Amino acid sequence: MAGAAAQDDAEQLLHLKLAFLAGEPPACILALARYALPLAVKIATAPKVYGRQNSTYTTTIFKRIISEVELSSDIVIDALYEEFAQRMLSKAKDSLLNKTNHIYKEISFLSSTHDNVSSSLISVVARLSCSSNMLEGDTGCSLWPSSLFLSEFILSYPEIFSTKCCFELGSGVGLVGICLNYVGASKVILTDGDTSTLTNMKENMELNNVCIKLEDFEELKESKNKVECKYLSWEEASESDLRGYQPDIVLGADIVYDPVCVPHLVRVLSMLLRRDSKQGEVNRKSGDELEMDGPVAYIATVVRNAETFNCFAKAAADAKLSAINIGSSTAPSNFLPYMLSYDRSSVQLLKITLSS
Ligand SMILES: C[S@@+](CC[C@H](N)C(=O)[O-])C[C@H]1O[C@@H](n2cnc3c(N)ncnc32)[C@H](O)[C@@H]1O
Repeated sequence: MAGAAAQDDAEQLLHLKLAFLAGEPPACILALARYALPLAVKIATAPKVYGRQNSTYTTTIFKRIISEVELSSDIVIDALYEEFAQRMLSKAKDSLLNKTNHIYKEISFLSSTHDNVSSSLISVVARLSCSSNMLEGDTGCSLWPSSLFLSEFILSYPEIFSTKCCFELGSGVGLVGICLNYVGASKVILTDGDTSTLTNMKENMELNNVCIKLEDFEELKESKNKVECKYLSWEEASESDLRGYQPDIVLGADIVYDPVCVPHLVRVLSMLLRRDSKQGEVNRKSGDELEMDGPVAYIATVVRNAETFNCFAKAAADAKLSAINIGSSTAPSNFLPYMLSYDRSSVQLLKITLSS
């Protein structure tokens, strides 16, 4: 019994710590912390953890924890007030340097098949600089729920992606690329049509040490780092721009939201899927929704506006693309149990192929 309780405490503490590092909204951190406020105080005062977070974010969390403890008539330990004061000072320094709009998020994917809590449960950790302004970089400097979902899908079905050439549209901060690199894709091409997003994405790939650095093809084959970041605007992309890539798998997360862009997006998808001879080969029994016998696209999307989604579905059908929703039949495992702000049920996963 005592063992199980200690296990629960360890799990709560781990979830709280990971949520904090992932930059979860303060209300979600507080919701996790409520299970065990003494643990919350420990986490909030652990220098290694808060040192990596943006001071505005940390200050807000400190403030909320202090009020919560005060409201519960508990004694707020002096160290917490001291740390709060320190955070206030560094927040003032940050705003003088105008550095407050970016926050580092550490997204840790926890393996779902575990019996006990230890650091070995964490399969991938992605460190990402994100903007706290969701419109920065044409929305590409924020992390969107569909890319969490697509990342969980990649980690749940690594055999689909390993040894495959993967090409992502509208990659934003680059999380999906880090997961593709992790599962052993033979090449990962991340693209975006916004230049400030592309700059941020490249910095994130360097931060995670996954960029291609080698010129020699043989060395490249041996290297574990396969990610390339490229500028690609759907409006401007031509057949000849895309001809060189020949991806096995095309991916996209939260890219179906602007009806003006939809025809261009569908045209690019269609060009990428309509490539010549090379065939994908995932060995699964016939009828399996994950079976592949040609290039395939996986597009994760939150349907915020049904009209825009229908416009995408119609443009895809007109371009002779078949799109099926596989989100519920091949639901990914839950690798992010500590992320209370992430509503996985809001995300649909489309598998898109050429109609036969
Ligand atoms: C909502 S964000 C999603 C970012 C990322 N995939 C994620 O889920 O976190 C949409 C992304 O698509 C890119 N994008 C939008 N319109 C585009 C276009 N016409 N051409 C290329 N990229 C575009 C934006 O720059 C942005 O990075």
